[in-house]
Amino acid sequence: MRKKIVAGNWKMNTLPAEGVELAKGVVAMRGEVCDCVNFIVCPPFTHLAQVAEALKGSNVELGAQNCAAEAKGAYTGEVAASMIAALGCKYVILGHSERRQYYGETAQTLNKKMEQVYANGLTPIYCVGENLDEREAGNHFAVCKQQIEEVVFNLTEEQFKNLVIAYEPVWAIGTGKTATAEQAQEIHAYIREVLASKFGAAAEECPILYGGSCKPSNAAEIFAKEDVDGGLIGGAALKAEDFIGIGKGFMA
Ligand code: PGA
Repeated sequence: MRKKIVAGNWKMNTLPAEGVELAKGVVAMRGEVCDCVNFIVCPPFTHLAQVAEALKGSNVELGAQNCAAEAKGAYTGEVAASMIAALGCKYVILGHSERRQYYGETAQTLNKKMEQVYANGLTPIYCVGENLDEREAGNHFAVCKQQIEEVVFNLTEEQFKNLVIAYEPVWAIGTGKTATAEQAQEIHAYIREVLASKFGAAAEECPILYGGSCKPSNAAEIFAKEDVDGGLIGGAALKAEDFIGIGKGFMA
């Protein structure tokens, strides 16, 4: 049985005190969903320590939204994977389309970040997905395949066992436009096939999350699909009730 995951990407939202409140809300409501669903919150770097404290003793896990490509040293403004790990993070989101698009993250950078994430015992949540033009041109399969080949294919078999993939069509992120459950299943199955071409049967164990305007009202239908193992949630992760409500999609 693959792990079921609902991960919240808070992006650049909430002040620290608000983040702590949100985390406490998630902890308070977490019991409404069975333990078989793993909840992860990914606040901004500045709140990680306080949110870690708020999550203590709960089974809500902590992740970061990014990390540096280097281990340490003269890299002004960067945050090392070792620092994130020291604060109690278990996960790091890597390759989010916003980072690829606005911060020019390339496969080369992402390969270095992956190395740092694994060197520090963290689990990457590696994002792939096509933009609207690519979808309309029918290139979404090729785009996802390339984003996987140029980064995930460089992992060892051991590292691959500790990887989460998030398929996030750029045209669905923050737009209110969700991929249909069928569209999600089609590409998730394809991504699993690509992973299997390199890692064989281990691909069956890799959680593949859907991301892009996922909300309580559409989660159940999307999560019901065979190759969809949960969600990476942006906007709806900013309200504990909605975030937990998405997790309830597994229980529908
Ligand atoms: P959204 O964002 O749920 O607000 O569309 C998802 C994401 O970017 O991870």
